[in-house]
Amino acid sequence: MRLAVALIGAACLAACDTGTEQRDDIASTRTVQRPYLPVPPGTIARGAAARQAALAPPGPEVTRDVMARGEERFRAFCSPCHGSTGRGDGTVVSRGFPPPLSYHEERLLSLSPEQIVQVITNGKGRMFPYADRVLPEERWAIAHYVKALQAKGAGLAPDRGAARP
Ligand code: HEC
Repeated sequence: MRLAVALIGAACLAACDTGTEQRDDIASTRTVQRPYLPVPPGTIARGAAARQAALAPPGPEVTRDVMARGEERFRAFCSPCHGSTGRGDGTVVSRGFPPPLSYHEERLLSLSPEQIVQVITNGKGRMFPYADRVLPEERWAIAHYVKALQAKGAGLAPDRGAARP
């Protein structure tokens, strides 16, 4: 497997045109533009298998470090909309973005960490995917942190954050 990956990598290095070699011939302020080439059928992007494996449930063991990472990533990527307690009252919402449901709504309480990882990977409805910004293992960490937020909020009335003062 490793050998196959290495071979593909070597073939790619040999064959791939990086688009930089012509730059010396033209004014340095001009960008080299190439037509979009679709990915050939049957091609697997480098690292795709590792990414897939990292996304497979049940994900990494939930340790203190994983939770700390989840909290840190949640604050960076999710709280702007979902709010720091997950009630849908982040700053982006206060500037007019449609408010997401509170994580403490009945339906969202039943989401599994795996389903939350899928929402981060693929987006949902008006929420964009975060696959290009959040690493697979970080998605699990965030998902467990969201479940912890929900557990912490248990007993509080579910509400829509935006409706709060
Ligand atoms: C730009 C704002 C925004 C950001 C940032 C954002 N979300 Fe969302 N999220 C939304 C909105 C809006 C919805 C409701 C989508 C809909 O139903 O149309 C949503 C819905 C969800 C849901 C519920 C999905 C369901 O089943 O209805 C989950 C879980 C979720 N987001 C998790 C996250 C996590 C985790 C992050 C951080 C990686 C994140 N979101 C970042 C706006 C955002």
